[in-house]
Amino acid sequence: MSSFYHKHYTILPNDYFNAGSASSDIKKTLKQLKVSKDIIKKVSVASYEAEINVVIHSFGGSVDLHIVNHTLYLQFTDSGPGIDDIELAMKPGYTTASEISRLNGFGAGMGLVNIKASADEMTLISDPNGTILKLKFFLHTEDANEII
Ligand SMILES: Nc1ncnc2c1ncn2[C@@H]1O[C@H](COP(=O)(O)OP(=O)(O)OP(=O)(O)O)[C@@H](O)[C@H]1O
Ligand SMILES: [Mg+2]
Repeated sequence: MSSFYHKHYTILPNDYFNAGSASSDIKKTLKQLKVSKDIIKKVSVASYEAEINVVIHSFGGSVDLHIVNHTLYLQFTDSGPGIDDIELAMKPGYTTASEISRLNGFGAGMGLVNIKASADEMTLISDPNGTILKLKFFLHTEDANEII
């Protein structure tokens, strides 16, 4: 038995007003699909941090949610300027956040750390043309049975 679910969201750069709206919709969707609360919590934390990164650090991009059988995939893609040094970017407290994003409450340098801690698997690749962040979450066997 296989199941499939897909949703795509556009993420606009510097749009502080709508920042987090894709993640809110993903959370709502997972609740409707009756995904377990502990998993919704982890997905929400990672999704929100990753979405904000696209808003405040990139030229804009998108996120795709896929659920295939009992694995949930999130893929964030943006069109640059990329991350110079991924190892450095992953360090707790490291940030290049602008003044305006700090004023909006971002820039603690903890987003990527929290994403890594929340996701079951994380792959981050980046060059000046863009960044791709792939996250994987393993659902419980009883989760998302509605889409099967
Ligand atoms: N999509 C992206 N495009 C370009 N640079 C990024 C992107 N995501 C992260 N970065 C870089 O990695 C750094 C660390 O990201 P991280 O999310 O950990 O912290 P932050 O966004 O600066 O602050 P916080 O997430 O705590 O609000 C950022 O400051 C930025 O330099
Ligand atoms: Mg961040």
